[in-house]
Amino acid sequence: MKFFVDTADLAEIRDLADSGLVDGVTTNPSLIAKSGRNMLDVIAEICDVVPGPVSAEVTATDFEGMMAEAEVLSAIASNVTVNVTLCFSAAQAVLAAKAGASFISPFVGRLDDMGLRGLDLIEDIVEIYSQYDDFEPEVLVASIRGPAHVVESALAGAHVVTLPPNVLRQLYQHPLTDKGLAAFMKDWEATGQSILEQANDRKNAAE
Ligand code: G3P
Repeated sequence: MKFFVDTADLAEIRDLADSGLVDGVTTNPSLIAKSGRNMLDVIAEICDVVPGPVSAEVTATDFEGMMAEAEVLSAIASNVTVNVTLCFSAAQAVLAAKAGASFISPFVGRLDDMGLRGLDLIEDIVEIYSQYDDFEPEVLVASIRGPAHVVESALAGAHVVTLPPNVLRQLYQHPLTDKGLAAFMKDWEATGQSILEQANDRKNAAE
């Protein structure tokens, strides 16, 4: 499963890309607005930092306008990608596949907010796409609110999750890991041992 980050904040993208976990980036007009920067500059810089797919959204809503903007965006770099976003139904996902989209982005958190189960939609789309060789979009789970969405997306067989930076960081954390680590460190410190010193001693003894 691929990890994308859902942000237009270059500092965050650089920081998270250093972890080696970031396979791509998703942006949208709201995230660009939050960055306070010029869209084309931001997309170009993101494409320089992350070699994988970078989703940049058009803002026109008519066919000619969308195509004209898509041409501008796709000329920025070869990794700018076609992503059908704001998907809330399996019917929309079928249409995206028929249109030849590279990615379909169902928004699970916003469905959960309405009292529905967003992951039901992911399960349906993964199932539908698996039945047709010519349905090629990767299922990119968006509007993720926490680690549980990531685990459920993996269980459903989604190809990609796009993670807000705080959720990516939350994936590392568990209170039992913190508690266990503190106990290991305390016991280790009490031994007074050092792995590197022991390795050095062994090396010196062998010479
Ligand atoms: O990628 C889509 C995402 O930015 C939407 O998230 O939390 O606004 O529903 P949210």
